[in-house]
Amino acid sequence: HDPRRRDFINIAAVSFAGVGAIAIVLPLINQMSPSADVLAQSTTELDLSKIQPGQAIKASFRKQPLFVRNLTPAEIASANKVSLSELRDPQTLAERTKPGKQNWLITLGVCTHLGCVPLGAGEGENRGPFGGYFCPCHGSAYDTAARIRQGPAPKNLTVPEYTFTSDTTVTVG
Ligand code: FES
Repeated sequence: HDPRRRDFINIAAVSFAGVGAIAIVLPLINQMSPSADVLAQSTTELDLSKIQPGQAIKASFRKQPLFVRNLTPAEIASANKVSLSELRDPQTLAERTKPGKQNWLITLGVCTHLGCVPLGAGEGENRGPFGGYFCPCHGSAYDTAARIRQGPAPKNLTVPEYTFTSDTTVTVG
């Protein structure tokens, strides 16, 4: 009986099991990737024509909540009078909207702290102390440009890529 030969057989058996496990995992990954690719390229069409000044709607974009808000002149003025030095994530309303369309504020509805959906886009929801959005999970408050003003969130609500395809229609993505 030669102990070294037995070791070789055991090692060979283990290696073979390892190869088998890899061969099973790969087809699962291959099956998952096409739908992830499709999702990553998907766009969302929005009709803004029914959203009155002061109103917001919740839509969805790539499986995430999307907030679309028609700011009133007072909300625009309130965003524009804040100096950038007061902001944790300094950005102007103009940088977060399109030229000539500063009233249309389009952001993901995902708190930049831990990802809860903030309040403020639904009818009658609490918009928090800065009049924009309020995250009930840990109290992050966003202003009328959806910029973080108070609470633990580090960043403003994300503005996705979008283009106006007419005066009242937008393609997001
Ligand atoms: Fe919004 Fe924590 S997830 S404050």
